[in-house]
Amino acid sequence: IVSRLTGYPEEMLGLEMDIEADLGIDSIKRVEILSALEEHLPHLPKVTPDMVGTLKTLGQICDYLCAHVAPASAPPPSPVAAMPATGVAPSEITQALVGIVSRLTGYPEEMLGLEMDIEGDLGIDSIKRVEILSALEEHLPHLPKVTPDMVGTLKTLGQICDYLCSSHAPQSEANLSAAPGLPAMNTSFDHPIARYEVLPRLFAQSGKGRFNPARGYPIGVICQDAIWAKAIVTALTDASYDVKLLNETAELSSTVPNLAGLVMCAPMAPAEAFEWAQRSAPLLLESAGHGHALFYTVSRLDGAFGLNGGPLENPQQGALAGLTKTAAIEWPSVHCRAVDVDPQWPAASAAQALVTEITQHYDDPCVEVGLGSEGRTSLQMAITELPATTSLELSSTDVIVAAGGARGVTAAAVLALTETVRCSVALLGRSPQPQDEPAWLAPLCDEAQIKQAILQHVFKERAPSPKALEKAYRQWMSNREILRTLDAFAQQGVRARYYPLDIRNAQAVAATLAIVREELGPVKALIHGAGVLEDRLIIDKQIDQFQTVYNTKVQGLLSLIEAMREDDLRYMVLFSSISARMGNKGQADYAMANEALNKLATQESFQRPGCKVVSINWGPWDGGMVTPSLKRAFENSGVQLIPIPSGAAAMIAEMGQPPSKSVEVVIGAPLPLANTVNTGGTPKAHEPVAADVMVQAVRREIDAGRCPVLQSHCLDGRPVVPLALITEWLAHSALHANPGLVLHGIDGLRLLKGIALDQNKKVIRLMAGGIKRNGQVYEVDVEVRDGSQNGAGTVHSKAKAILADYLPAAPHFDENGHFKPTPGLPSLKDIYSRILFHGDALKGIEKIVRLSKSGMTAQIRCAPAPESWLHDPMRSRWIADPLVLDCAFQMAIIWCHEQQGLVSLPSYAHSYRQYRDRFPADGVTAVLEVVKATDRKMVADFTFLDQKKAVIACMTGYEAVMDPGLFKAFGVKAA
Ligand SMILES: NC(=O)c1ccc[n+]([C@@H]2O[C@H](COP(=O)([O-])OP(=O)(O)OC[C@H]3O[C@@H](n4cnc5c(N)ncnc54)[C@H](OP(=O)(O)O)[C@@H]3O)[C@@H](O)[C@H]2O)c1
Repeated sequence: IVSRLTGYPEEMLGLEMDIEADLGIDSIKRVEILSALEEHLPHLPKVTPDMVGTLKTLGQICDYLCAHVAPASAPPPSPVAAMPATGVAPSEITQALVGIVSRLTGYPEEMLGLEMDIEGDLGIDSIKRVEILSALEEHLPHLPKVTPDMVGTLKTLGQICDYLCSSHAPQSEANLSAAPGLPAMNTSFDHPIARYEVLPRLFAQSGKGRFNPARGYPIGVICQDAIWAKAIVTALTDASYDVKLLNETAELSSTVPNLAGLVMCAPMAPAEAFEWAQRSAPLLLESAGHGHALFYTVSRLDGAFGLNGGPLENPQQGALAGLTKTAAIEWPSVHCRAVDVDPQWPAASAAQALVTEITQHYDDPCVEVGLGSEGRTSLQMAITELPATTSLELSSTDVIVAAGGARGVTAAAVLALTETVRCSVALLGRSPQPQDEPAWLAPLCDEAQIKQAILQHVFKERAPSPKALEKAYRQWMSNREILRTLDAFAQQGVRARYYPLDIRNAQAVAATLAIVREELGPVKALIHGAGVLEDRLIIDKQIDQFQTVYNTKVQGLLSLIEAMREDDLRYMVLFSSISARMGNKGQADYAMANEALNKLATQESFQRPGCKVVSINWGPWDGGMVTPSLKRAFENSGVQLIPIPSGAAAMIAEMGQPPSKSVEVVIGAPLPLANTVNTGGTPKAHEPVAADVMVQAVRREIDAGRCPVLQSHCLDGRPVVPLALITEWLAHSALHANPGLVLHGIDGLRLLKGIALDQNKKVIRLMAGGIKRNGQVYEVDVEVRDGSQNGAGTVHSKAKAILADYLPAAPHFDENGHFKPTPGLPSLKDIYSRILFHGDALKGIEKIVRLSKSGMTAQIRCAPAPESWLHDPMRSRWIADPLVLDCAFQMAIIWCHEQQGLVSLPSYAHSYRQYRDRFPADGVTAVLEVVKATDRKMVADFTFLDQKKAVIACMTGYEAVMDPGLFKAFGVKAA
């Protein structure tokens, strides 16, 4: 407990050490330690406050507790404590692994060999692999952990077993993480579905700095447009860069082994762009290790990624941004930026602006930047109301063509559509015409049972490979899904036919469309939901995998558009993906294809003015490609899925919008706020840091002169840095190291050792660890340490900062009587003079509305600009609001005083979440709800609301220590 609450490693703590002199543990921390010990071992005798000062060493505390423990109250020995940490026999591990693989894949155990390649032989994808390992971890919690980055390196089941049996593997934390605590705050996003529009916004200078490759490391330029190529090469050379113009056949690794940057300009076929990216990746990653490395793609859509509202000449150039946004995620050490230049701009000025991006805005975390004569453009995602459903212009004689509509989420959406418009439906897919299920299959639902049955009935002669079995299984399941879809249309009384074809084949599509018109009637709507996935990192992806994914979406759409040129379409709905907007690890091809789809939609909306064209960038659905394994993976990382009825209703509502409006929309979770700016993809630190290594983000000298606010926060006559300000600094550490993200929260905020100032100045260092993605958010360990240059020094406070690309929508707050005034409350003047020690700068409570045993409500003003508190602030505006937080802690003191007769100081907060990027200027209402109070400690939750009672932020599991000794430190009389 002492180690946890002070941050000293256990091995550093000796029982003979003087608690105050050797360990620097002040009286408040001592009370906190004893109260934690009391919670952990409730049968121990109590150390009363007056005794606290007499027990000088940890040993004395132990002796006291042992001497006074009542024999009958000793807790029974824990059976867990007696268990060895590991000691699992290799055969047991093998058996468990094989059993789990069989259960989760449906392959019979006897088919599984330890030498089999997990991907090649068993066709187990990365998600399934994680699921298998987590099931194994649950089953054998004492085994070492296989971390996600290791998953890809263990290629066979045997290798996994060997690794787990080896003594080198680090021990799992599963059995160590039983520390009592509140459940983790739900970082999932409450609303199942949200809609955003993507808007171009001019933005001023953002980020500074120049790309500085190591000496002898050139920038390669690929550009087939001679005028444009010359302009870029000239501008880069003028900016003193070593430039190499690369041609199509250049063997990168032999001609430019020291490649530090790649600038790749449209026009360029998407597959070619992908191959250049793939070939340059190892060189750029290598160069990043020697300094800077950059990867730029340059499209020329309209200077705003096709979002300026005009027609586009070459919409497939949009694919380049999908590639770059994914590269930004996969190559965190390489500076990646997708630039879209206004094609009307003369080449020389445009090239100059492009080069300015790397000579002046290198630190800018924006991954997508538009360039035009008016300036730089970023893309902002604005949340918009889900449109109301209006009636659609489709009659019973019309036909909807649904590519990929016989299965998955497209089938569900079309079925919902035909509930409202009873037209005929033509379903296109590659699977053959469905056949009735044989009697041996029809009653089976369980994957393992079905695979067993396939083995018996389909592979009678010869045992298949696991992959062949998987293929047969999938075919039967597609057949079943198509039968069910056709049956569901029949139940609705809708005429639906299935046409097997590959939509990449333009001739087949044209011929099939002719048959559709003849058999069903005039085609009035197209829904393009055909798609496939081949998730692999850019460096690992085969070009044919890229082609399959890209062409199914894009070539498929082009075939359909061509075949429907003469059809009087009223609706065209394209199923795109959030991966296009954000990029996604392993999905460069998919992000590129869906970005191309978005831009083709814009183009088509001009070609067909009377037709409602919309490209919906869907977040993940609860169905279709989101297999049960993937669904569990999303759930584990707090990502909410689109419920099928909500997604289907959203599609129908989009179809009812006027044709010219919102061609490109994003629908799904999480929900951003309307004013949240999208910096485009995932920003990355230029110097990647391993997650467990703390790196100094900022070093500052502080003293009472430079920090005038500290004069208003003195304990025992000495200025002490308020925890609210420390929280702000912790947030700054995380954001400093990860520009472009926003602060969504702070978890596990612990005050380990207060920062008290004497006459002298004090040095503090803000530290940040590497960034880790956790579902929709990112986590960064942060600390405030002292200025010690040797070793780690004293850690004053630590926490985990929660960063996000966008802030999610706030939860609803139930008023529940929190605003009902309590009569006869003491005046604030009285409170500030009699109970609180805070000086003028921190007298932020403006009105106490309610105070009762269960909690308190007060109105609080927000902090003034940082420079009025600190002469040299770290930012021009606050990240959270330190005055609001400090006043919340003041409320806790008032509550403790009025209800418990003691005063308190903060020690810990389990979780803080913020739903806006700034607090409102007109102040907040803070609601404190007491969760638990003993005579030493209070635990409470806070909610901060704006004038309309909408939630701005909340803090759960706030803990404050109460102690009579604090009256003296506060300089106030005991209650
Ligand atoms: N599910 C999600 O969470 C999600 C999220 C974002 C976007 N989306 C998009 O929504 C669409 C539907 O996704 P889903 O989850 O329903 O996927 P799914 O269950 O895998 O269905 C994909 C459909 O596309 C068809 N298809 C694939 N390649 C084809 C080709 N070359 N020619 C004709 N048909 C082809 C498949 O039929 P055959 O196998 O019979 O060819 C199948 O009907 C996709 O475009 C996907 O990118 C889905």
